[in-house]
Amino acid sequence: MTHIPEIPSNATPQEILKAGVEAANGQVSLACSFSVEDVVIIDMAKEIGLPIGVFALDTGRLNEETYEVADAIVERYHTVIDWYFPKHEAVEKLLKEKGQFSFRESLENRHECCHIRKVEPLGRALKGLAGWITGLRSEQSVTRTGLAPIELDKSNGGILKINPLLEWTEAQVWEYAEARRLPTNRLHKEGYPSIGCAPCTRPVAPGEHPRAGRWWWENPEHKECGLHRR
Ligand code: ADX
Ligand code: SF4
Repeated sequence: MTHIPEIPSNATPQEILKAGVEAANGQVSLACSFSVEDVVIIDMAKEIGLPIGVFALDTGRLNEETYEVADAIVERYHTVIDWYFPKHEAVEKLLKEKGQFSFRESLENRHECCHIRKVEPLGRALKGLAGWITGLRSEQSVTRTGLAPIELDKSNGGILKINPLLEWTEAQVWEYAEARRLPTNRLHKEGYPSIGCAPCTRPVAPGEHPRAGRWWWENPEHKECGLHRR
């Protein structure tokens, strides 16, 4: 069984990344939604010379601005992005039976869409990996407190899940991104602190919770799509 390294509470994201990749002892890839957090992680890994892969789940409902960041990343870092798409039969069946916006009708329908477009492709993306990296941060949500910077992901075959920015604040992330002039999603500056699929994300008002614009018609404790099961 993979050993989970001890991480001191004052460890830097770079130290967490390095310890996680070493402990995984195999291929490790970043799950990349092209959020500012994910871009910061790519930059840190490149800076310290960690050989991580990058994969992205294209749900078919992403914003154009998100694809622009993807191309900017490829250009800046000469990184290959492994794109995963949903199974076309499942999307075709969903649309035929329930239309384009079934996710607004009930939590069950929303989970069905997220399962088809995100969770099932994630399972394929993680096949063969010894670990995966995410841009999760504790302060993002009530559903994200109590995570560890490096944990065994029991929902995904017991591989390592590495969350290097877990204890960073939004301000720390932006300070790093601006100091390094990283390519970031234009929507962040247009009131979108958190960006998912276009029809399920809207801008937030000043002072509103950063994830208030994600699945805004749902309660905060439901705002997970199933990528990060616990
Ligand atoms: S979500 O579960 O609510 O959609 P969020 O947008 O906060 O997640 O992103 C948290 C982390 O999940 C990202 O930093 C990234 O590691 C991963 N993630 C989210 N969406 C995707 C995606 N479409 N492709 C790859 N990874 C993703
Ligand atoms: Fe479907 Fe919305 Fe989930 Fe994207 S976020 S997979 S559009 S329900």
